Formats: sequence, structure tokens, C-alpha cells
Amino acid sequence: MSITLKRAADGQNLIIELKDVALSGKIHIPGDKSISHRALILGAISSGQTTIEGLLLGEDPRSTANCFEAMGVKISPLNAEKVTVEGIGLENLQEPNDVLQAGNSGTTMRLILGILAAQRGKFFTITGDSSLRSRPMSRVIKPLQQMGAAIWARKANTLAPLAISGSKLLPLEYHSPIASAQVKSCLLLAGLAIEGKTTVIEPALSRDHSERMLEAFGAKIERDPIDNIATIIGPASLTGQNVVVPGDISSAAFWLVAACIVEGSQLTIKNVGINPTRTGVLEILQEMGADLSLENERMITREPVADIHVKYSKLKGCEISGAIIPRLIDEIPILAVAAVFAQGTTVIKDAAELRVKESDRLAVIARELTKMGAKITELPDGLEITGSGSLVGTEVESYNDHRIAMSLAIAALGAQKTTTIKGVEAATISYPNFIATLQSVCGMEE
Ligand code: S3P
Repeated sequence: MSITLKRAADGQNLIIELKDVALSGKIHIPGDKSISHRALILGAISSGQTTIEGLLLGEDPRSTANCFEAMGVKISPLNAEKVTVEGIGLENLQEPNDVLQAGNSGTTMRLILGILAAQRGKFFTITGDSSLRSRPMSRVIKPLQQMGAAIWARKANTLAPLAISGSKLLPLEYHSPIASAQVKSCLLLAGLAIEGKTTVIEPALSRDHSERMLEAFGAKIERDPIDNIATIIGPASLTGQNVVVPGDISSAAFWLVAACIVEGSQLTIKNVGINPTRTGVLEILQEMGADLSLENERMITREPVADIHVKYSKLKGCEISGAIIPRLIDEIPILAVAAVFAQGTTVIKDAAELRVKESDRLAVIARELTKMGAKITELPDGLEITGSGSLVGTEVESYNDHRIAMSLAIAALGAQKTTTIKGVEAATISYPNFIATLQSVCGMEE
């Protein structure tokens, strides 16, 4: 029985080797990233104070907070137990005197755009890091332009940096070609300032945290989850609320898979958000044969939450495609790791969206797991993985993508020999304590 788990001197690389060590313990995961963004955004544009407990302290919500601070919103230090946002109302956001920085965060840029586009008479510029500057923005620019927005962007209005001249927007019924909560939320936020109904119709249901939270803050929302329709009836003025952020199921997913693939493991993950628009990963792991159970189910600020028990399980391959994809979109890299340790073939389809996330996640996870001996074929819109039940450690690379960094670390737990993960620091985007938790479930002192 032995563990090697150490950071290289520069903190960028993580070296992992586990021999006959089972994972155990109770894990508290960080706050949900999507809900954290939305609590900061709605808090900023409400009247009165919003308090947020359990806010994710990752880099992405920091980017959202920084943008609103630059527009005159007072936000207490994000590491406070209860973060306070002194809302100034939608109409009182100030024109920032510099470029807004969304960092690595697509959610920050796309959601904020809906608010900025409707700020009449004010001018904004917004940019991000090199990853974000290569991600498609036309998916939000086009519908906003149909509503009358004045937005300019690089490469024929597709890429950040963006310039926005706030204007009067008109209602729109938008048939989105993709199931994207970022697109839907951007347009619903734009609809806050618009007289009448702003409607988004999606090809499949995406996460509905915006709808739930907008309702809690006092907006009028109509929803049809069967036909994937969400409408906001504007104009709406929001009032500050007390928000408690549940743990992020996308972060829990790493431990669910870790316990399934490392023999003898048993973990309890506390306080996980189990909003049905996010639980595709639980359904697929159960279909693959994972031994997991939910306990202590409850509601926290309009979001369902539970503790999840998971045990080592013999997994089998399955097909992951269709309407479930948006419900597990961020978990596909870690599900690919589960598939490597499963018996039989797993086919993932309808997931071309992964090519425009923080990295091209289909290409990167296929390439890096192949280096460790996995049998993976990249498809235009997915992956075909033949379970081999084992991997061999080597040097792999995160490509600065948080979910790739953490997926590779979990793959390393199930691999023979030593794995070195380059760029593991990326994990801090959504999971600042990832390595400390990894140490603790491996029985090491934090
Ligand atoms: C998010 C929505 C998803 C997800 C992202 C966060 C959100 O993106 O991948 O990590 O908070 O709305 P899309 O809605 O673009 O698929």
C-alpha cells in the first residue's frame, strides 16, 4: 500500500501514484459554479442587499464579481462566510472606465452581455483570457442583435473582445439552435429591461438555475419544461435575497467516478445540488452499474440537494446521447474516465459542444487518456471508448482546462505507475481545494 501525491516545485504539476489504497471519507465540495455566478449577477442588479452563503471561491465567480465591481457594485470579500452584494438596480450600473475582464469564464461573458446590451446610453468593452477569446460569442450576439442590440466583435462579430453600446431592446421569441443555459440566461437577463415577453425555445432542456433564481428575486417567469420554453415578462425589478449555494454536482462527479474505479473505495459527498437539469451524470453512472445512493434530500433556496454515497463498482459501458447531453455537458471528460474502467464500449454522441468549451474537450481528453493507454476513437460529436479496465501513468497535460486537469487526476488514481499532470493549477477555476480533498480521500494529511 503506497501513495505518491506531490506538487512539483512550481505548483503547476501534480504527481500521482496510488498502490492498493482505497478512497474513503466524507467530502464537502465547493459551491455550484452556475448558481454562484447567478447569485452575484442578480444580487448586483437588484435593489437592496443580497447575501450569499457557500459561494464558490473559484476564479470564474471572481471574474463575475470583478465585472460588477467595475460597474459600481459593492461586494464584500468573496471569502467571507456570508458574502454581501449591495445591489444598485439594473438602471444604476455605471459605465466602467476600463475593459471588463471575464477571465476564463464563458458564463460571465455571455450572461453579462444580456445586461450590458440593455444599458441605454452606456458603452462597454469586455474581454477574456486566450481560451475565452477563442470561444463562440455569436450564439449570444445574434439574438441580442435581433432584439436591437449594438454589439461589435472580432472576426465578423463572433469573438471577444466585444464592444457594446447599450440600447433600447425589443422582445423576441428565440428558437435557439443549441441547448445552452448561457444563451437562454443571457436573453432572459436582457428581457428584464424589456416591455413584454422575451422567450427562449431550446432543442433540449438546459440547466434552469436562472429561471429558479429570477423567480426568487421577483421576476415573472413562465416555463414549459416539456417543450423547453422559458419566458420572462418584463420589465422586472428585482429585490435582493438570501441565497444559499448548494455543492456543485459537476465537482462531485470527480469523486463519484474516483470511488467507482478505485477498488475498495467508499465516499460520502455532502450537500450536492441535484437539480434535475444537472443530474444526467447520476443517471449514466447508475446505468453503468455504479453503486450510489442519495440521502437526506432537501430544498435549499429553490434548489434540490442531497448527500450522495458511492462505493467501488464494476462498471459497464453504455451509450450517452440525445437530450441527456445538456444535463451532463460538463461531466463528459470524467465520464470518459469512467468508461475507460468499464467493461465493454461506451459511445458518446451529440456532444460537439464540447469542442468549444475551455478547451476542445473531445480532442484533449481523447489524446491525454490515449497517452495513458486508453482505447478511444474521437468522433465528430463524441467519443467511442473501449473499456480496458486499466491505465498506465505517464506525463499528461491539462491544456489549462480545469475539468481536464481534474479528470486526469482521477484517471491517475486508477492507473498503474506514476502520472504527472502538467498544468494542474487550472483546477482552481472551479475547485480551489481539489488537491487538498484528493489528499484527504487518499488518507493523507491535508
Ligand atoms: C453554464 C452552462 C453550460 C456549462 C457551463 C456553465 C451556466 O454551458 O457548460 O460550464 O452556468 O449557464 P452552455 O450553457 O453554453 O452549454
